Amino acid sequence: MDALDAILTRSSVPARLLGEPAPSDGELAEVFAAAVTAPDHGSIRPWRFAVIRGPALERFADLFAEATRRRDPEAGAAVLEEARRKALRSPLVIAVWAEIREDHPKVPPIEQIVSAGAAVQNMLIALHAKGYGAIQLTGPNAHDPFVKAGFGLQPKDEIVGFLYVGTPSEPPAAKRRPDAAAFVRHWDGAAALDSAAD
Ligand SMILES: Cc1cc2nc3c(=O)[nH]c(=O)nc-3n(C[C@H](O)[C@H](O)[C@H](O)COP(=O)(O)O)c2cc1C
Repeated sequence: MDALDAILTRSSVPARLLGEPAPSDGELAEVFAAAVTAPDHGSIRPWRFAVIRGPALERFADLFAEATRRRDPEAGAAVLEEARRKALRSPLVIAVWAEIREDHPKVPPIEQIVSAGAAVQNMLIALHAKGYGAIQLTGPNAHDPFVKAGFGLQPKDEIVGFLYVGTPSEPPAAKRRPDAAAFVRHWDGAAALDSAAD
């Protein structure tokens, strides 16, 4: 698939539509190779990835349920079961985070997070080009220190997404995209000069 075609035809697949087969470890190696071409100020390589499949998915579900219980000790069995169910929607999940260097002299944390986000986009495109479906999801668990600890992270680190990955059970619906031109201006500096005069 041509690179631009892959970008323009990619769309997220709802996690409930993602089933077997999931990419093999060999296929994932190419996906991670795509990930680490992300722009990376200072070559600090802030991105980290954890592949979750097989029996580990049950432990991932346990982690979500326990994190939910800790955030809301009153949560009932149905709420905790829903937390587990969410973790188990696809046959493969990839946690992606930025391991944040807070004291870097040139690269503030926001730039490290941007780099991890770019890695995610490369992965989504690579997975699509290989015929797989995927979606990037976060929610409260992604920002929960207990979940972070479950992956060996510190509170300063930022989970930018759990990528749910598999084969779509139905062809993704054609998605209407916004008119790109509506988001683009040709800047001539006038606004900057106007506000500088205030
Ligand atoms: C950082 C990040 C976190 C996201 N988290 C969620 C989420 O928790 N739940 C959700 O429904 N969509 C979430 N999304 C949006 C989906 O990943 C997806 O982009 C959206 O459904 C639009 O689909 P598209 O990728 O085909 O445009 C998130 C997107 C980003 C960039």
